[in-house]
Amino acid sequence: MKIAPSILSADFANLERDVVMVEEAGADYIHIDVMDGQFVPNITLGPNIVAALRPVTKLPLDVHLMIVEPERYIEDFAKAGADFIVIHAESTNHLHRGVQQIKSLGVKAGVVINPGTPVCAIEPVLSMVDMVLIMTVNPGFGGQSFIPETLEKVKEIAELKKTKGYVYEIEVDGGVTDETIKSCAEAGADVFVAGSYVYASDDPAGQIQKLKDALK
Ligand code: DX5
Ligand code: ZN
Repeated sequence: MKIAPSILSADFANLERDVVMVEEAGADYIHIDVMDGQFVPNITLGPNIVAALRPVTKLPLDVHLMIVEPERYIEDFAKAGADFIVIHAESTNHLHRGVQQIKSLGVKAGVVINPGTPVCAIEPVLSMVDMVLIMTVNPGFGGQSFIPETLEKVKEIAELKKTKGYVYEIEVDGGVTDETIKSCAEAGADVFVAGSYVYASDDPAGQIQKLKDALK
């Protein structure tokens, strides 16, 4: 069970401090949300920020690309030091090629689907990927409410993993709190992204501990 704090809700003027803080608090991955103002209605950050964060933490950098035609930037994010590059099925006509490209650069590949997209959209690449991310909110912003219906897809992905012998991790992203995390784990998720729950608190370390306690 891994906790991946999303720096989307961190203090962008103090990113190093906020990354080190969650690493010391026992976070497992650093989740980095890249948005282009087109695939989602918000703009965040690019490969230069990933490169700047690479030397400040030993934790794997889990880069979630919410951008149109992510294949245009996969190489830049790989060079910047991403450990995982996760691309949306809805953002490209060439999901398979995108996954191949990520892997050819020696980076772990992930695929992600929005709440309105069915699992069958990523089924043809499941044997190739290291990570499957099921969005539990519509991407674009932190602090939204968890959409419980998405858990059916987490279950489906967990079942396919079992029956077909796939090896991917199953990640959920959006609205994860000490209350919703349990149902995600029961559905089969093993990596939990949490943005506002961790960072919009005076005690991010305590919040990470609460998430871990909820999983016991
Ligand atoms: C949403 C992003 C999430 C976001 C989650 O588009 O992909 O990673 O940071 O934020 P919370 O945990 O606040 O829902
Ligand atoms: Zn994300």
